Amino acid sequence: MNASPLWLDFRPRPDLPLWTRRVTGEVTSPQGKAALRELRQGFAALGAEAAGDGPCLRLREEPGEGEGWRLSAEKDGPVLSGPGRGLVYGAFALLRKLALGEAPVPGEEAPRYPLRMLDHWDNADGSIERGYAGNSFFFREGRPVCGGRTREYARLLASVGLNGCCLNNVNVTGEALYLLTGKYDGELRAIGEALAEYGVSLWLSVSFAAPLEQGGLPTADPLDPAVRRWWRETCDRLFRAVPDLGGFLVKADSEGRPGPQSYGRTQAEGANMLAEAVKPHGGRILWRCFVYDCTQDWRDLKTDRARAQYDTFAPLDGQFADNVLLQAKNGPVDFQVREPVSPLLVRLEHTKSIVEFQLAQEYTGQQKHVCWLGAAMKEVLDFTGPAGTVKDRLSAVCAVSNTGDDFNWTGHDLAAANLYTFGRLCWDPDLDAEVTAREWTRLTYGPDPLVEATVTDILLRSREVYEQYTVPLGIGWMCDPPTHYGPSPEGFEYDRWGTYHRATCREIGVERGPAGTGYSEQYGPALGAVYGNMDTCPEELLLFFHRLPYDYRMRDGRTLLQRIYDDHFEGCAAAEAMAKAWDALEGRVRSDAFRRVQVRFREQVRSAREWRDVVNSWLYRLTLIPDEKGRKLYL
Ligand code: GCU
Repeated sequence: MNASPLWLDFRPRPDLPLWTRRVTGEVTSPQGKAALRELRQGFAALGAEAAGDGPCLRLREEPGEGEGWRLSAEKDGPVLSGPGRGLVYGAFALLRKLALGEAPVPGEEAPRYPLRMLDHWDNADGSIERGYAGNSFFFREGRPVCGGRTREYARLLASVGLNGCCLNNVNVTGEALYLLTGKYDGELRAIGEALAEYGVSLWLSVSFAAPLEQGGLPTADPLDPAVRRWWRETCDRLFRAVPDLGGFLVKADSEGRPGPQSYGRTQAEGANMLAEAVKPHGGRILWRCFVYDCTQDWRDLKTDRARAQYDTFAPLDGQFADNVLLQAKNGPVDFQVREPVSPLLVRLEHTKSIVEFQLAQEYTGQQKHVCWLGAAMKEVLDFTGPAGTVKDRLSAVCAVSNTGDDFNWTGHDLAAANLYTFGRLCWDPDLDAEVTAREWTRLTYGPDPLVEATVTDILLRSREVYEQYTVPLGIGWMCDPPTHYGPSPEGFEYDRWGTYHRATCREIGVERGPAGTGYSEQYGPALGAVYGNMDTCPEELLLFFHRLPYDYRMRDGRTLLQRIYDDHFEGCAAAEAMAKAWDALEGRVRSDAFRRVQVRFREQVRSAREWRDVVNSWLYRLTLIPDEKGRKLYL
């Protein structure tokens, strides 16, 4: 198969314990067998010579569906025990330790969240919405396919602790509308089985209007008995035909997608109707909160898109069925490089929630720029609001996948670090994200200390660097509107998306404090006061929350405008330095992998220069205030 093994490309190690020569197992489930196979293959790849006797690793499968594992030391070698799913995670954890050159120690682990999933925005025709790594490996020419990559993907997901995968785009169109109807049960069942071998459950995005579109009913009203019956019967058939189905992901009343609003029903009434239909099968509904007015008139200075999701869902807190999870993006708007944490994640008291991150780098360089998102994800998980810390309140975690059928899965080789880190943080949100960046680097490129230091340093700095040369201080939305790539400072200004900065020759930003749209108050009194006041607002979010004059003094004494100029110059210089640091690894990284990344860095540097000069010159033309350091701006 023409696909990179990514971090599972184990290299021989000199210091393997003797028990890696022999693995025995009392395993019965498909997952237990997969664990045994992975260990045998993995130990061989790490350089263990097979032996017929002597110390060994024993696998002991316990009954049940749990995901935890335990490693204990016994007389003739260690024992790895747990249910089949747990053994898979234990096997990969052991292999990871050994590959990193660390000694496995007795202990036990279990994942923090029961659901840790990737959402694919794959379309039935094989394209991927906001996909930057080739085409879909789940769909080809209008049909789902269970191909060679399906099992490899399941392995990769399980190896970092993930256990769910939604196959199709939240915008359900074309042939994907028929995934529900029985037409593709065989294909879905095959994909489900291949994923389940590694403990990964399959999910589908569904259209709220399916009873109309596929069922031939005159309505999709969630309170209509015929609609409810249609969903129940559809689920009865589908869950029988595809036993590994976890449930549905639903984008309703969002960017033109159908939803309960059309029938005068609430989001809770819509979600609960589906929840009732999947409940007998143990299914769950992931109901997205991405509900806002996407046909806003730019002349409307009052409506604030940042407010929309909380305003819609907070009044419904407590009304959702227990098998509904509200799926909120990490920030209130849309995956910008810097946004505050969505207030939905820290204010809902009686509703289960799942945070949605975006590994697909839609607004963060589209996998042409390196932008490691581990620290950004960690900031969200560690964020504390009125009802507690995000990671303690979540019921599940998901991310929009950054994978496709490119050889390296993620377009940019370094973007695989995002997938890796995401999985590790879902398993244990207390992990130090930086440690996972280092782990990924060592597993991917081997033990060369210069490579490890250089690549890890690039990853750790990359998000701030990207933020500096694109949209610093939380301003967001200066990219090209259709593609979301490259600079266009006023691209969204006179459009319908509700994403404005309304820059004039004197000021920039939307005031979201109490004197403005009042968005800051969605965080409750204490946090709201911090964000609502420009003197206490974290500086990196200053222009998200406030409209400020260009001569506003930043905490270090620079003017706001000078800070923006400086960020663009410094960020661009840092991107150039990262590209140079990579160049210095020639001969130390396999040549094909070296070249792939080098080519991406060339594009990143070109694009960073463009961002720097377009944004800075645009501000200079607006304000006619020169750069204090006399660097080149273009009139
Ligand atoms: C963004 C993205 C869309 C996507 C949407 C969503 O707006 O540009 O392509 O469909 O998010 O999350 O539903």
